Amino acid sequence: MSQPTTMKALEKSQPAEGLWMVEAPVPEIGHDEVLIKINKTAICGTDIHIWNWDDWAAHTVPVPMIVGHEFAGEIVEIGSDVEGLTIGQRCSGEGHLIGHESRQSRSGKFHLDPGTRGIGVNVQGAFAQYLRLPAFNVVPLPDDIPDEIGAILDPLGNAVHTALSFDLLGEDVLITGAGPIGIMAAAVARHAGARHVVLTDINPDRLKLAEDVVKNLRTVDVSREDLADVTHELGMKQGFDVGLEMSGSQAALDQMVENLVMGGKIALLGIPPGKSPVDWSRIVFKAITIKGVYGREMFETWYKMIAMLQNGLDVSRVITHRFGVDEFREGFAAMKSGLSGKVILDWE
Ligand SMILES: NC(=O)c1ccc[n+]([C@@H]2O[C@H](COP(=O)([O-])OP(=O)(O)OC[C@H]3O[C@@H](n4cnc5c(N)ncnc54)[C@H](O)[C@@H]3O)[C@@H](O)[C@H]2O)c1
Ligand SMILES: [Zn+2]
Repeated sequence: MSQPTTMKALEKSQPAEGLWMVEAPVPEIGHDEVLIKINKTAICGTDIHIWNWDDWAAHTVPVPMIVGHEFAGEIVEIGSDVEGLTIGQRCSGEGHLIGHESRQSRSGKFHLDPGTRGIGVNVQGAFAQYLRLPAFNVVPLPDDIPDEIGAILDPLGNAVHTALSFDLLGEDVLITGAGPIGIMAAAVARHAGARHVVLTDINPDRLKLAEDVVKNLRTVDVSREDLADVTHELGMKQGFDVGLEMSGSQAALDQMVENLVMGGKIALLGIPPGKSPVDWSRIVFKAITIKGVYGREMFETWYKMIAMLQNGLDVSRVITHRFGVDEFREGFAAMKSGLSGKVILDWE
């Protein structure tokens, strides 16, 4: 197939703050891989860590590295052993690359493979005109899911994986952190039939965006309003049945534990910046179940989220900014401002 030999790519070229637009070789694919022409990408908090070159990034990301893992595009080349995919197929894909030798993988729990590596973090990523990806990781996009939504399936998948960790039907759900993922989790909790969905943050702009994206949602600015007053106002007698922690804030987790019912359940997606103290006795005496959530289940999360999107789940308004890829600096600035939802970069 006749692809160009070089491509535009957004790269961490030096171990310093920033990203650079470079001309890179178009990747060559192996027998079990595909080449994807990228149409749209989305900027993730992870990309901001890499832009800023904080301690985590400096210890994790080898340089040079083409960054980015949230994408949608179309298949333009297929390895010799790949079956079931066709040239021109629109797709997104799972950015966690796994091995197939571990006990977890061999028992079908691919998302728990201890050797997981991330595109745009450990291996060359998707902020480029072309991406090489194992065919195993490709997720075809149905015609009724546009590329823009395809490009945010990775974080929507985090939201769906977390939200569907526990049964939400008829339950009162507390979500802490109204970043893009917390907002989408609120939409999923609504879609999944929760009774009350309460979403907290300390940034009023984020809560306003949440109300724009999700109908029938109670937002709480916990820097100004007491969560206990809100539960009282909603007529809740004991507390929330399920908590979805999506801020990485110690204060939010403490507040969640405090406001959960006896025997409540917590799914933890948010990543605290370092070690953080936890009042374990409170958790023990409340008999709380806690589950850590990493990535997306391969590929049950993808299946469920696409099915929900085709059946009325609407998260499109969480996309607040769109830029051509040459304006990537503006895109990253919008993302860093704390005022944005998802920011899309257009590669077409
Ligand atoms: N486990 C995983 O696989 C995985 C994957 C993606 C993201 N994450 C993590 O999930 C979290 C959510 O991602 P995001 O992109 O939406 O993040 P984000 O940083 O955009 O949003 C976090 C929000 O939490 C809010 N917050 C801060 N303190 C708070 C408090 N005390 N109470 C309530 N809210 C508070 C912030 O104002 C912000 O709006 C982050 O911690 C991220 O690192 C985890
Ligand atoms: Zn991401």
